[in-house]
Amino acid sequence: MHPILEELKDLLGDKGFIPGDEAVEFTTDVAGTTASCLAVLRPASTQEVAQVVALCAAHNVAVIPQGGNTNVCGMTLPQVGQDSVLINMSRMNQIREVDAACSTISAEAGCTIGALQAAATAKDRIFAPDWGARGTAQVGGAVATNGGGQNVFRYGTTREQVLGMEVVLPDGQIWDAMRTIRKDNSGYDMKQMFIGSEGTLGIITKLVFKLHPAQPVSNSMMAVLNDQRHLMDYLNLAKEIAGDKLVAFELLNGLGVEKALERYPDLKRPFDTRADWYILVRLAGASSVDDTLATIFEQGFEKEYLSDAVMAQSLEQERNLWEIREQMIPFQYFPNHLQCKWDVSVPLTNITAFLEQAEQIAHRHHPEAISYAVGHVGDGNIHYCIFIERAPGIDLTELEQTYLAEIDALIWSYGGSIVAEHGVGAAYAKRMRQQKSEVEYAMMQNIKALFDPQGIMNPGKLLE
Ligand code: LAC
Ligand code: ZN
Repeated sequence: MHPILEELKDLLGDKGFIPGDEAVEFTTDVAGTTASCLAVLRPASTQEVAQVVALCAAHNVAVIPQGGNTNVCGMTLPQVGQDSVLINMSRMNQIREVDAACSTISAEAGCTIGALQAAATAKDRIFAPDWGARGTAQVGGAVATNGGGQNVFRYGTTREQVLGMEVVLPDGQIWDAMRTIRKDNSGYDMKQMFIGSEGTLGIITKLVFKLHPAQPVSNSMMAVLNDQRHLMDYLNLAKEIAGDKLVAFELLNGLGVEKALERYPDLKRPFDTRADWYILVRLAGASSVDDTLATIFEQGFEKEYLSDAVMAQSLEQERNLWEIREQMIPFQYFPNHLQCKWDVSVPLTNITAFLEQAEQIAHRHHPEAISYAVGHVGDGNIHYCIFIERAPGIDLTELEQTYLAEIDALIWSYGGSIVAEHGVGAAYAKRMRQQKSEVEYAMMQNIKALFDPQGIMNPGKLLE
């Protein structure tokens, strides 16, 4: 047994210590990939996190912070061949304060997104981060990955919500910056280093977020897009009509909608038309948004952008439309296929061209390839996958050789990013390096070396 384990167990007690071989639920990611570690630790306070990290530093054991374990890039999978512990933050789940007057909320990092949303709503405010895993994903992870989701179009990414934080540094020191102020030009903004750092620079233990005024009334419309080339024109029309009320503008591929409806029989088919592309638009405001949504709906038909559409007639119907969308995460649907994936962002005006060209590339190499796109068109962010049926003689390495370089290059030719929203993790570490200039990559390496000279924090993630 590794000598650190007795010490960790004494420190955290039974509630906070799970031996590695009993921790499979924490060491398996959403795609079913598994890894192993010495132990999963569940500290209940910042002090405990700090003591654990200091012990790990002394023993040179790697530390992998984990929130809700909903990441899709292998971000919290221990690396093979290295002694590591996983620090799961779920016991640090206290909301400390909701200050309606200042429009701030402060909470421990292990609170779920949903818990903060509910606490904000109770005080007529909005906590902006929102995506399908809201009931599981934790705010510490949301900040460590700079999570995106469905509200980015209106409120920006998680980064833009953060006012303050508390972090345990890789040597076990605690940095308390639980600030609630909105303006602070007193030097380098150190919290930005930890936002999107994927647990490679420290462990976020507490956070202060800004809140927004409540938008208690919302409504959504799902529509059949006649031709994906109309996508941007229609987005711009919706922006002009709805202004600030436009919260989300999403693109859904036809196959994904069918897969979601098949797999989740409680979901209701919004209309009979089956098409290649749908859009899902959400408006929200202080009072009814129905007239504005109806205008967007009508103009869509007048301009022949749409051929079918439905406006939700109840909250339940609206929820149904969004559940279809949220169930379109593709990895659950193609067990007999191999997958190459991109988390694309390109300038808005290039989205349609990207989709067309990527599909052409996919089919040029494999006429039967499934080209799968779903995402946050309003933000220029598409989750894109190519699926190829498993068959003798086709392996993933070969597929990646065929597709990754070509489609990465296509994305970069537009000045885009291959990893827009989900983070780098282990999945994109190698390819991300190619996206950066030597100067930029060296700055990132230097920052890592400055914060974590021992290299114990989430090794193998983000940086190669
Ligand atoms: C989505 C998540 C997976 O957009 O980012 O569905
Ligand atoms: Zn997304």
